[in-house]
Amino acid sequence: MIESAGGLFAIALRGASLLGTIAVIGGWVFSQFVVVRAAGPAVEPYRGSLAQFGNRLAMAGAALIAALMLPRALVQALAPATPTGPTGPLVLAVLQSAWGIALMLQALAAAMVFAGLRFANVSRRYTRLTEAGIAVLLVAPAFLGHAAADPDRALTSIIVNTLHVAAAGGWIGALLVLTLLARTLRSRDHGGPLLASLIVAFHPLALAGAGTVFATGLATAWLRMGAPEGIANATYSGLFVIKVVLVFVTGAVGASHAKLAKRRVATVDRAAIARTLLGEALLAVLVLLVTAVLTGTAPIA
Ligand code: HEM
Repeated sequence: MIESAGGLFAIALRGASLLGTIAVIGGWVFSQFVVVRAAGPAVEPYRGSLAQFGNRLAMAGAALIAALMLPRALVQALAPATPTGPTGPLVLAVLQSAWGIALMLQALAAAMVFAGLRFANVSRRYTRLTEAGIAVLLVAPAFLGHAAADPDRALTSIIVNTLHVAAAGGWIGALLVLTLLARTLRSRDHGGPLLASLIVAFHPLALAGAGTVFATGLATAWLRMGAPEGIANATYSGLFVIKVVLVFVTGAVGASHAKLAKRRVATVDRAAIARTLLGEALLAVLVLLVTAVLTGTAPIA
């Protein structure tokens, strides 16, 4: 399974790149939507620093994606399937391929997001730069994975894959920010009411994100494995089932936060919430790991 998905290094780098993408989308969504929606006296003094916290995670994700470009090209160039020879020309050949060009555009978009957020206060042009970079980062996985290679329905696959990545980033990425914040707020005064306000503000986004992730996930599965063209690869369909089960468990853990949000609680037990948020975030990272194997595995036998 590991070798057919490109080997351990390729899977690890692909997973790290997906995590970077989720962190960029989640950090940006958190600062643009969750912080803006959060209500209550506990939030006011911290609105600016909360938005910065989200942007910093997005910048860290962007830096990770950019840093992964050359290692991913190198691993691709040295992959068993690739002809042997001096490494330099092999890497160049990979970077000149359609996959390599998508990889370089992804790294360029990550640099745009990093610069856009870093100089956001300088002028609105940098906000546009961030948004343009994020748009490219949403589409890039489709050209680095299976979607764009779909022989019959490439455009549909690219659109569905992009919506899937956007929803996964909005839900799980913002969850990662909340998880890190909950750990920071454990020892802060007013941390309970502040965290409660953020969980209430995050809830509708998590619901919309989870719903869209499921719908686009099922659509993507149908596009990849849909009969009657071919018999689905047992490894691929097995990984798909593992992923869906893991996402259900992630959602179940998240349901406990949803209950609090629905009751619009005024404060929360910070230590307990920090633990369950961490549990949910770790499960989501596991989903990304399975996705990193899934996107490297041939869907049809
Ligand atoms: C925590 C929730 C989820 C996250 C974070 C997530 C993340 C992702 C990401 C980042 C990709 C893009 C891979 C790429 O094109 O490189 C992907 C692909 C995919 N996801 Fe999800 N996903 C989630 C839930 C689901 C669910 C619930 C389903 C099914 C119902 C699903 C089915 C798929 C499929 C079939 C692919 C395509 C893999 C391929 O290109 O071969 N995902 N997912």
